[in-house]
Order: sequence, then structure tokens, then C-alpha cells
Amino acid sequence: MDGPGNHLGLLVPVPLASPGMDDSLTRPSSPAGLSCYMAVSQFLGLALIAMTGAWMGQYRGGIAWESSLQFNVHPLCMVIGMVFLQGDALLVYRVFRNETKRSTKILHGLLHAFALVIALVGVIAVFDYHRKKGFADMYSLHSWCGITAFSLYFIQWLMGLSFFLFPGASFSLRSKYKPQHVFFGIFLFILSIATCLLGIMEMLLFNIKATYSSFVPEGILANVLGLLLIVFGLVIGYILTRDEWKRPPLAEELALSMDFKNLTMGESPSSSP
Ligand code: HEM
Repeated sequence: MDGPGNHLGLLVPVPLASPGMDDSLTRPSSPAGLSCYMAVSQFLGLALIAMTGAWMGQYRGGIAWESSLQFNVHPLCMVIGMVFLQGDALLVYRVFRNETKRSTKILHGLLHAFALVIALVGVIAVFDYHRKKGFADMYSLHSWCGITAFSLYFIQWLMGLSFFLFPGASFSLRSKYKPQHVFFGIFLFILSIATCLLGIMEMLLFNIKATYSSFVPEGILANVLGLLLIVFGLVIGYILTRDEWKRPPLAEELALSMDFKNLTMGESPSSSP
């Protein structure tokens, strides 16, 4: 929750720069706890990718496009795109605290774009694999959640682009859309992790149903991967919900919001969306 009297986490006291003063000198550097949690999140994220790769490489024969190994592209791309890169894109505003809002927004949009492209490769891989093998499409809960998560993620990206990066949308329209953008951003990240958990379960049941209950190494590796996905989600969620780690607005952004407040007479100010 934001602090009293503001919408966007102004709990960190930000000294307003006086004219001629270098704004970056007056701003607090990244809080110590934040750097620590960031490091943990990146370590966990890389561990997720390494474990998914190890699972496909060690137990599922490796990864290739033009063979029956094409399916294995799917889990790896989905974990890289829909979990790791999506998670990192959410953290951009916490990490780049002293950059301009515009460059931070561009980086946020670019990371989501990379995530989408990599996830698209993963989705194409599984549909193409099913088509070549003559398997049915879209029958499982995993595939229903997956197509919902992927489609909404694409729509969310398009809406973010048109509201926040193209100059057409007004300040007040951006302010109105912003809470929905934030809510759906967090929802889609949670849905992506849940979808991966369903995918892991499904893959285990397809491949090692007969031996899963005897604690075979592949089952244990996949279970640990599932737990790490949950922990990764928790760490990202924790970083995002710590009020004092939210990006404090730059002095010029505050000045802009005050102008907006004066113009709209009585609307409370917020940092530029
Ligand atoms: C957010 C991440 C993911 C999304 C959006 C996603 C999406 C999908 C979709 C749309 C299908 C249906 C393909 C078809 O019907 O032809 C599918 C199939 C499948 N996925 Fe995923 N997936 C994700 C992650 C994973 C992961 C991490 C695994 C395993 C580790 C996995 C395992 C499977 C399996 C086994 C199938 C084939 C069975 C089925 O159609 O349900 N998925 N996925």
C-alpha cells in the first residue's frame, strides 16, 4: 500500500533538488536490502533456466527443432520467457531508480518484448510438435491456462505500449489505466508460474508415470524445479510489494505532477505514469 497522501510509494523521502543542483546527487542510492533480494532473485532465475535445461538435456534427450526433441524447446523457452524475463521486466522500476522514467519504461517494454518472442518460439514448438505427431491440441488444463496467460500477456504488452510509450495518451488517461496495468502485470506473472507447475506435472505423468512414486532422480529434479519456481515468484513479489523500495519520482516528475494537479484542480498528484 502506498503511504498517506500519495499514490505511488512516496514513502522514501526524496529531497527536492534546488535549481542548478544535480538531482542524482540528492537521491538515495539503491537500498541495501533491495540489492540483496535482487541478487537472490537473479541467482534463482538462472538456477531455474539451468535446471530446466538440465532436465531436458539429461533426461529427455536434449533439444532440437527438426526432430522429436522439438517438444523440449517448449519448457525451456517458457521458463526463460514467461518466468525469468517477465520477472526481470517487473523489477526494472525497482533497480533503475535514478534513470529517467522514459528510459526505464523503454527497458521495461523491451524486456517484456524479449520475453514474448522467446515464449512465442516455445508455443510454436509445442503446437508444431503436436501437429507432426498427430496429437490433440488444447485438451489439458495446462494448455488452457497457458494460452490464456500467453494471449493476455501479449494484450497487456500492446496496451502498455499504446498507453505509456506512444505519446497519444493523455496524462489523466495514463493515470487511470496504470492501476489495471499493475494489477494484470502481477496476475499474469502468477498465472505463468502456476501454468509452469501444471506443465511440469503433466510432463512427469506423460514420461515417468510408472516410476514417479519411487523417488526417481528425474522426478526429484522436476519437483525441485517446481519449488524454485514458487520461491522465485515469492522473491519477486516481495521486492515489488515493499513500499520503500518503490522508485521515488525524480524532481522533474514531481514538478510535472504538481503542474497536473494544478491544472485539474484538486486531483491528488502522482508521479508521471
Ligand atoms: C507459462 C508457461 C507456459 C505456457 C504459456 C504453456 C503453454 C502451453 C500450451 C498452449 C500448450 C498446448 C499445445 C497444444 O495443445 O498443442 C502446452 C502444452 C504442453 N506444455 Fe506448456 N506452457 C508453459 C510452460 C510449460 C512447462 C514449464 C512445461 C514442462 C516443464 C510444459 C509442458 C507442456 C506439456 C507436457 C504439454 C503437452 C500437453 C498439453 O497439451 O497439455 N509447459 N503448453
